[in-house]
Amino acid sequence: MPYKVLIIPGDGIGPEVVDAALYVIKAAAERFGVELEMKMAEAGDVALRKYGVAMPQETLKLADAADIIFKGPIGESAYDVTSLIRMRYTLYANIRPVKNLPGVPALKEIDCVFVRENVEDVYVGAEYRVGGVAIALKIITEEGTRRIARVAKRYAEMRRRKVTVVHKANVLRVVDGLFRDVALEELRELEVDQMYVDAAAMELVRNPARFDVVLTTNQYGDILTDLAAQVAGGIGLAPSGNIGDAKAMFEPVHGAAFDIAGKGIANPIAAILSGAMMFEWIGRKEAADAIRFAVEKSIEKDVKTPDIGGRNTTLEVGKYISSIVSG
Ligand code: IPM
Ligand code: MN
Repeated sequence: MPYKVLIIPGDGIGPEVVDAALYVIKAAAERFGVELEMKMAEAGDVALRKYGVAMPQETLKLADAADIIFKGPIGESAYDVTSLIRMRYTLYANIRPVKNLPGVPALKEIDCVFVRENVEDVYVGAEYRVGGVAIALKIITEEGTRRIARVAKRYAEMRRRKVTVVHKANVLRVVDGLFRDVALEELRELEVDQMYVDAAAMELVRNPARFDVVLTTNQYGDILTDLAAQVAGGIGLAPSGNIGDAKAMFEPVHGAAFDIAGKGIANPIAAILSGAMMFEWIGRKEAADAIRFAVEKSIEKDVKTPDIGGRNTTLEVGKYISSIVSG
């Protein structure tokens, strides 16, 4: 049975990086005999302009039927697409590995994986305005914390067995306090430490090598993963997987970058490495490894976009990497 993959190119540089990534994904699927049944759908600002809704019914139907969603960045309407997909399919774990790539100038050495809770926190969208007062609810549940902590535990067991729980329980004593307490309880068999989010931001710049698995809530994870990606060499290289029990969505961490859209200079590596995460999720590690190897090869051979010191276009990089994957 083929995997049903819904492709959502998204906005800004989305269509360019997704197009480049598709060359690589198709090459890996072909080489390793992975059957993918791919469909395309519109969502985001582009759909909003055309149909008046960011997430059209047709796209929703296709997403419902898909096993996997592979998505580019979304512009202004990202909450209505990205967060909707995460919530609708309970993709509760946002996995964001952050690691230097050989040959890419970086601020520091870093090799960690963020396990970001992905469906709770202020992202539930409970915001209200009462006259001159605005209120947002931050919702953290014991069950949600347990299930994300278990994911962090699994990753730690495959890595250096160390988890840092990041929160702000000195201020949000009840809400972040629950997250901290439940997480620490789930992780008691491992080497665990905890850090306030402000200190974690500092430490990620000062001594990022100290982190192995970072477990945190939705919003802190959003902010810290952009920061960590920059420490590793740039946001154009950072992949992610949004994982649920039955479905998953893979997407680059970066945004739509309208300022450089259509110029062919966007780095497709974040999208391509998100494709590698997709193969890993379906249990085809050999395909994921081949993609990662090919990405490193492209950098070694200087086939790179300008953000990491190269002169190639988005598509040239994608095609080169796909040719290495094909062997
Ligand atoms: C991300 C993005 C999204 C988020 C936005 C676009 C809704 O920044 O995936 O990190 O805040 O989660
Ligand atoms: Mn973000």
